[in-house]
Amino acid sequence: MKKYKVGVIGATGMVGQRFVTLIDKHPWFELAVVAASPRSAGKKYGDVMNGRWLLDTPTPDSSKQLVIMDADADAEKIASSVDFVFSAVDMKKDEILALEERYAKLECPVVSNNSAHRWTPDVPMVVPEINPEHIEVIESQRRRLGTKRGFIAVKSNCSLQSYVPALHPLRGYGLDKVLVCTYQAISGAGKTFETWPEMIDNVIPYIGGEEEKSEREPMKLWGRVENGVIVNADSPAITAQCLRVPVSNGHMAAVFASFKNKPSKEAILDAWNNFKSLPNELALPSAPQKFLHYFEEDNMPQTKLHRNLENGMAISVGRLREDTQYDYKFVCLSHNTLRGAAGGAVLLAELLCAKNYI
Ligand SMILES: NC(=O)c1ccc[n+]([C@@H]2O[C@H](COP(=O)([O-])OP(=O)(O)OC[C@H]3O[C@@H](n4cnc5c(N)ncnc54)[C@H](OP(=O)(O)O)[C@@H]3O)[C@@H](O)[C@H]2O)c1
Repeated sequence: MKKYKVGVIGATGMVGQRFVTLIDKHPWFELAVVAASPRSAGKKYGDVMNGRWLLDTPTPDSSKQLVIMDADADAEKIASSVDFVFSAVDMKKDEILALEERYAKLECPVVSNNSAHRWTPDVPMVVPEINPEHIEVIESQRRRLGTKRGFIAVKSNCSLQSYVPALHPLRGYGLDKVLVCTYQAISGAGKTFETWPEMIDNVIPYIGGEEEKSEREPMKLWGRVENGVIVNADSPAITAQCLRVPVSNGHMAAVFASFKNKPSKEAILDAWNNFKSLPNELALPSAPQKFLHYFEEDNMPQTKLHRNLENGMAISVGRLREDTQYDYKFVCLSHNTLRGAAGGAVLLAELLCAKNYI
């Protein structure tokens, strides 16, 4: 099979390193371009990453000889030499909006990890197991941009990828009110314990913008396609508190939920255990065999034991029980830089390829 040529914009960052690693082993994709800021441009990826590599696995050999391009100055050259790009840059929001739109207008599809375009109404924000049908809005986005191939698709924030997957199969019971507290890993801030020693033996009760994203983004995920845009859902009501905890990888969420028609505990477990999704039907390479894994043991799931379940793409759920103020409470766990960032974007790109948008 001919492989898709892929570029990674922001390839030197923490998420970019995950992209480079995932593409290296990917059956459909091959890494053709790495790009970053002018600070890194013109140097070999292997040389720049020497001392900056943050993952446990080594820098893939296939990437080391690539000369880093300037994401902005070399945009035309990059766009013409790849089939699509992944974007994971740390820049100001208006700069990201402009950069991603520029690539789209250069007829280069952009699959983005950044939040800048998440609220653009004709940009699909997709968790492939939850709202794959939202990619339909790409046609109207292309009409707005005046493009034939180019478009932008984004993934959602990492914190909600732990609890929204578990709530999703329960929406049929009239999911009404949700309270969630997230316990988020330091890699979500692009950091390790070496680069952020203040986090050792510490909890910081604030992550800028995260609570708002955790409450609002599910409404777009659960929205519907109407006249070429996504119309947001208006329920359930969600309230969130997001804490930074001393964990390298893996976001945990403690969830409380109430329903208009309270399901039995057995019905909830059945909905989780038998959840079926399009990524499985299409046999997408990064799709987990089972999206939601329920653990019966009271002390599971645990971050260290379960964050890498199914290559970090599955969601772990546990401790389902009745609550005194909400109908039920439970905990969820997902890998924030795999399912929650690069892995989720790779799965989205696979969906877009399988559905011929790329
Ligand atoms: N970490 C996570 O778990 C996570 C999860 C979800 C979303 N995100 C989002 O993903 C994005 C990347 O996060 P990260 O943690 O990987 O950040 P990071 O480690 O700080 O990496 C930032 C990347 O952006 C590049 N960059 C900075 N300024 C640039 C410019 N002017 N032009 C081109 N490239 C530029 C950097 O290149 P240089 O090396 O050349 O400076 C680097 O490759 C952010 O928007 C973040 O909010 C992160």
